[in-house]
Parts: sequence; C-alpha cells; structure tokens
Amino acid sequence: MRAEIRRYSDAEYLAHEVAASILSENARRVVDQARFSLVLAGGTTPRRVYEVLAQRATGFAWRNVHVFWGDERCVAPDHPDSNYAMAKKALLDQVPIPPANVHRIRGELGAAAAADAYEQELRGFFGGAREPSFDLVLLGMGEDGHTASLFSGNAALAPTSRWALPVETEAKAPRWRVSLSLAALSGATTAYFIVTGSGKRAVLADILRDPEAAALRYPAAGVHPRHLVWCVDAAAAPETVSR
Ligand code: 6PG
Repeated sequence: MRAEIRRYSDAEYLAHEVAASILSENARRVVDQARFSLVLAGGTTPRRVYEVLAQRATGFAWRNVHVFWGDERCVAPDHPDSNYAMAKKALLDQVPIPPANVHRIRGELGAAAAADAYEQELRGFFGGAREPSFDLVLLGMGEDGHTASLFSGNAALAPTSRWALPVETEAKAPRWRVSLSLAALSGATTAYFIVTGSGKRAVLADILRDPEAAALRYPAAGVHPRHLVWCVDAAAAPETVSR
C-alpha cells in the first residue's frame, strides 16, 4: 500500500483543505452507508480542522456519522486535557450528530475499566468482526513518532487481539490513557495523518523514506489502512516531498 502525501503551504491552509477533503470525499458514502464511522484524533493539531469542518459542513449527513476517538487521556470529559472536550467544543457542539452516535472513551473510569468499556462498545458496533473497519481515521503524530497513545517501546504495541488498550506512559502527560491498538487502527478503510511543524520533519522523513524500517521505531509507521494519506504542512514536509 503506497501512502499518498498531500503538502500544504501552512497549517491554516492545511486545516481548510483537509476539512474540505473529508467532506467532499465522504459526502456520498455518508448518505449511502447510513452508518459512517469516523475516528477523531486528539492533541492540538486537529482542532482547527474540526473547527473548519463545523463551519463548512452544511448539508453533510451528520445524522449517519458515528464518532469515535483514537485515544483519550484518563481525565474527566470536561478536563482541559480531554480529547473529547476539545472535539466537543470545536466540532460536536456545532453539528447535528445524534448524541447516541458519539462513542466517548470514558477515561474518568481509569485506564483498565475505560479500555474494557470502549472495547465492549466497539465490538457491539462492529458485531462479530475480527477487526473494526472504521471508514475514516484521523490521527496526529508526535515528534517521537507516536500516534494515538501508542508510544515507542510501550507494552501497548505488543501483538494483541484487543481493540482498545489501557496505556501507562511517561512519554507524554498525562500518564494514563486509553488507545486503539495498531491492529484496530489498521483495519480502517482510510487514515489521514495530520502533521504540522518543523519538529516532526525528521521523523516524517524517516517514515516516508522507508516505512517498513520506520515501523520498527515509530508507531505512526505501523498503521496500515487500505488508503493512507499524510496531510502535512511545508514546515513538516521533508525536502523530498515535492512542492
Ligand atoms: C494525544 C494524541 C497524540 C497526538 C500527538 C500529536 O492524545 O496526545 O492523540 O497522539 O496526536 O501527540 O499532538 P499535537 O497534535 O498536539 O502535536
């Protein structure tokens, strides 16, 4: 599977273009499928994409969209560190997604209980499938090549049949999290990595140069959906990525 690379001049232009792509590339499927599963990324980069999505999404069949998260911090849903809280403010409060379609990771339960609850909710949504088959997964990437809450060297990267995992990490606060597994992320039809800033350029260059070798070092290189798109701004784009 060859990755597609989309390079944008700056983070603001990227946010507008990625939001436009999400809407235009999925408008038909969201109507036809009646249940479109969208996984939101956490962190700070996607916030502007969500804000633009909310502004431009008139006429999009949000009633058919089911929202999930790639990961969540083990904090209250109104905590400043909550990935749910960020998405709720930037997107969910602005568009008509039925509340029952919002599948929040209940981080406030603690990592183990929250992961078990999310696992159960995912398996209920995807029935007896061997892997979840999300329609579109949005992901960020840290400067160390982590994605969701999958950090290099962490036990959560061990082969597992689980789709949702408790994570303890010292790599990025807060310490306790819940994350989708690499296998669960890789079952997706399409995954967009949204990466901006020069601090991520070196790792991104390694991943794009030799994805297989990079997967041994960087969890972000271990996500293998059917269609993989790197959405990067000029600051994060390696020289090899044409302008
Ligand atoms: C999290 C995120 C994490 C994030 C990267 C990039 O919960 O921390 O899921 O994987 O996407 O750390 O974060 P920024 O977008 O803030 O650079």
